[in-house]
Amino acid sequence: MFKNKNFNYAVFGNPVNHSKSPKIHSLFSQQTGISHIYTSVNVPLDNFNSILCNFFKKDGYGANITAPFKQEAYYFCDKLTKRATIAKSVNTFKKIDNQYILGDNTDGVGLLSDLTRLNFIKKKCSILIIGAGGAVRGVLFPLLSFGCSIFILNRTLLNSKKLVTQFQKYGDINIFDENSLKIKYFDLIINATSKFSEEKEDFVPLSFISSKTCFYDMNYQIDNRVFIDWCLKIKANFFSNGIGMLVFQAAYSFFLWHNVLPKTDYIIDILKK
Ligand code: ATR
Repeated sequence: MFKNKNFNYAVFGNPVNHSKSPKIHSLFSQQTGISHIYTSVNVPLDNFNSILCNFFKKDGYGANITAPFKQEAYYFCDKLTKRATIAKSVNTFKKIDNQYILGDNTDGVGLLSDLTRLNFIKKKCSILIIGAGGAVRGVLFPLLSFGCSIFILNRTLLNSKKLVTQFQKYGDINIFDENSLKIKYFDLIINATSKFSEEKEDFVPLSFISSKTCFYDMNYQIDNRVFIDWCLKIKANFFSNGIGMLVFQAAYSFFLWHNVLPKTDYIIDILKK
C-alpha cells in the first residue's frame, strides 16, 4: 500500500480526508527545521492492524491515530506511557530502536494546555463534562491530576458510571446529579459529545451557569457548531472551540517523536482563520 510513498509520519483514521494534522505538522517542520514527512491515511474499518503493521515495517517512524481507532490503537502497542495506560486509549505511536511501538495519549495534555492558554482553568475549579465516550477517557487523568473536581453528564447514565468507577482513584470525579449537587455554578463546562444532528434545547440546566462560567467545545469542525451556537444563544462570556487542543496535542506528539516542543500560538491563529 505504501510502495511509492516515502512519508515517515501520518495520521490514520476514518474518515481522515478533512484532517488538519498534515498542515499543522508541516508548519511544525518549517518552524523547527526538522524534516518530517507527514500525510493522512484513510483506514478501512476492519483493516487497522495490517495497515499499521505495514507502515511500521516500511518507512514509518510515528503515527497519530484518530477516530474511530484510538481504542484499537491501545491494543496495538508493545509499550505504553502512563497517561495512555490510564486512558486505555492511544493517539500517538512512536517506533523505538526499530524494535517496538510505544503508544502515548497527548489529548489530555493538549486540552489542559489550551485551557491554560485561554485562562479557562484553575486549580480546584469545578468542571462539568458533557459526554462519556472515548474522547473523555483520553482527557480525564490530566484534568484530575491538575486538582479539578469533575462532574460527568451523559445521555446514557451507565457510561458515565463506568467512567467514574475507572477514574475515581485519580481524583474527585462524580456523576452530575442535579438534586444532590453541592456547588452552585460550574467554573468550566466542556462539551465532549460527538456530533448532534438535532438542535438541542439546553446542554446544561441554566441554573448551574454564571456570567463567569467558561465553555469549551472539544469539537472544532466547521459543520459541528451546535454547542458553540448554544453558547452564543445563552450569551456566554467566555467560550472556545477545540482548535487549540488539536494544535497542542499535535505539538506533544511532535515532542515525543523529536524531543522538541514547537510553538503553537501563531498556528492556532492561522487555523482559526
Ligand atoms: P468519542 O470517542 O468521540 O468520545 P463516542 O465514544 O461515540 O465518541 O462517544 C460519543 C459521546 O457523545 C457519548 O457520550 C454519547 O453518549 P452515549 O454514551 O449516551 O452514547 C454522546 N452522544 C452522541 N450522540 C448524542 C446525542 N444525540 N445526544 C446526546 N449524547 C450524544
